[in-house]
Amino acid sequence: MPHSQESFYNDVFLTLKEYIQQSADADSVIKVNTPAELEKLIPELDEKGVDGGAIVQEIKTLLATSVRTIHPLFLNQLFGGLDPAAWAGEVTSSLLNPTMATFEIAPALTIIEKRLVSRLNRLVNFHGGEGIMVTGGSNSNLLAMLCARTHFNPSIRQTGFSHNRSRVYVSAEAHYSFDKAANITGIGTQNLILVPCNGRGEMIPEELERIITADLRDGFTPIMVGATLGTTVLGAFDPLKEIARICEAYKIWLHVDAAWGGGAFFAPKLRHLLDGIGQADSVTFDAHKTLGTPLVTSFFLTKHRGILKNANRGGGSEYLFHEYDNSDWDTGTYSLQCGRRADALKLWLLWRSHGTQGLIKRTEHLLELAAYATKEIQGNPKFKLIHSNYLNVCFQVHSSRDRENLNTFTLKVRNALVKEGKALVNYAQRPDGTVFLRLVFPNHQTEKANVAELLKLIEETAERIDLLER
Ligand SMILES: Cc1ncc(COP(=O)(O)O)c(C=O)c1O
Repeated sequence: MPHSQESFYNDVFLTLKEYIQQSADADSVIKVNTPAELEKLIPELDEKGVDGGAIVQEIKTLLATSVRTIHPLFLNQLFGGLDPAAWAGEVTSSLLNPTMATFEIAPALTIIEKRLVSRLNRLVNFHGGEGIMVTGGSNSNLLAMLCARTHFNPSIRQTGFSHNRSRVYVSAEAHYSFDKAANITGIGTQNLILVPCNGRGEMIPEELERIITADLRDGFTPIMVGATLGTTVLGAFDPLKEIARICEAYKIWLHVDAAWGGGAFFAPKLRHLLDGIGQADSVTFDAHKTLGTPLVTSFFLTKHRGILKNANRGGGSEYLFHEYDNSDWDTGTYSLQCGRRADALKLWLLWRSHGTQGLIKRTEHLLELAAYATKEIQGNPKFKLIHSNYLNVCFQVHSSRDRENLNTFTLKVRNALVKEGKALVNYAQRPDGTVFLRLVFPNHQTEKANVAELLKLIEETAERIDLLER
């Protein structure tokens, strides 16, 4: 029987609503299936289509077999949870489905994106700057390198690098997207210099200066330093003030990757970590990481008005970017993309719904969760705290068997957790071979009771492995 459009929409919305309502109490983050089981569950494409009822059924199957990233025990990656207003923004923008290229096609959404950009610019002390939403923190870091390249060599877009002597500096703990950006921008990965960090994972400014002066002596041109606020694994904040002083002294573009550490914008007690951010040239901020908007809600901000247009100049004027009354509002002329989703609405509706005070409360809640987890781990002889900073808590799990290696055992526990699917927590490996669970707190739906439940689950999993392997 054909499904009417009305009952199709009703069924889809009901299915999604039920999924959301069940997620907080669902007994697992994922019902684990093997690839072979999934192959069976997911029907093949066919010559003939199916009716709405079958589509709704397929949506149910997908929901039942996918990771519930909105579950309070999804603590695996730097995002998670569901905010109703932000989700409404996601649904509305995909329904409107404009491209954020011209004001003509996305009038209200252009205003919203620009308002958010200028609000965030004020937060990072960029007055009169500009910015654009991008497809993620990785692409924001790419845009930073592109802007630094354009700033120092305005004709590079036409000429390309002939005798490249440009160098970019990031900490050894920086996100891997800088490596990709060095590749794409033509700077070259061998010219991306990893500056050593101290034991807390923060860039050592004296090392940065030493490397820069040596490079200058050897005829290289330092064009950008990428400082990280909130490194991916350790949650470390590079010392911005000192790095900014070095960039100022040597006239180097300072980019701040605050994709993860941007939570500090909304945490008064972390404001001191942002000292010097106003001296930066550009900033990456991912609202989907700490504020709870759906993926992707990512900003590139810069104080240099006009640099985005110069860096991304080219094409489209014959059919897309017309001269008209409102063409100054067009954002496509300074974007890397042509089609661009209206991501702004997610953060806009979230911010409207909670107000700045609500965003501060949400961030403080995440910081409290991290502090609570740290204390519980420290007080539990089964665990060994390796590192705790910001929203990152890294620890190992002891086996009760004397000879079991801590790294191997921690990894066994993590693998067992993934197989069971009750909670998802990622792990990381250090250059010295240390393996630990990297517990992160981006998920505002997680409560202290969930953290206690998770630690208990980890302990029980460890005991079970010990029993089996005795
Ligand atoms: C510090 C940092 N920068 C950049 C990124 C990349 O962000 P995205 O996943 O939005 O591309 C990440 C991702 O985890 C990150 O931790």
